Amino acid sequence: MTTQTEIIQNIDTAKIVADMLKQVNAEYVLDTTYGVGRFYKFFRPKFLVGIDPHIYPNSIYIVKPDILIPKTVWGAFKTLKLLGVKFNICVVDPPFRHRPRGKDNRLYYYNLIGTPEDIIRHSFKIAEELKIPYLLLHFNKPYDGTKIRTIKYIYERGFLKIESYFILYKVIPNVKTP
Ligand SMILES: C[S@@+](CC[C@H](N)C(=O)[O-])C[C@H]1O[C@@H](n2cnc3c(N)ncnc32)[C@H](O)[C@@H]1O
Repeated sequence: MTTQTEIIQNIDTAKIVADMLKQVNAEYVLDTTYGVGRFYKFFRPKFLVGIDPHIYPNSIYIVKPDILIPKTVWGAFKTLKLLGVKFNICVVDPPFRHRPRGKDNRLYYYNLIGTPEDIIRHSFKIAEELKIPYLLLHFNKPYDGTKIRTIKYIYERGFLKIESYFILYKVIPNVKTP
């Protein structure tokens, strides 16, 4: 499926996330790279489950999840199965930039276990196996899949120009042959 790419510049990216979550009436959300919950600053879903192998100091969380699973995305499947929650969407935002030097208040965003592609692939796998109908990805390039909305985000300040994509996918369930 091809979608037109919308271009959005210099806004708080949590607004893009809020808009896409509302588009699919997301109430039960699974975030496989939770970070500090910055994405949920404008729209806090009814039930939020986060996965992240790095647990941060309490004071830097922007939005706390209802449940936080302190594992990698590929280590969390059993726990998710036991939870038995019917999620509406899976959100994925793997670290994909070089870790900056010096003091940056978002250094924690750059802690990567595996590769960004491993994280995305496993997130799709979880979404397929748990029958989660949508996946929202933030990444530096489009990733294969059935896209229903694509936003190219451009952040410009002086000579600095950073581009990334917010893509909403329809997850096609994994049909297993008997
Ligand atoms: C860019 S940050 C996510 C920020 C988040 N969207 C927010 O709103 O705060 C990426 C997160 O992925 C986590 N991460 C790194 N490797 C991972 C893995 N293998 N599985 C799951 N999460 C991982 C990092 O610890 C980091 O917190």
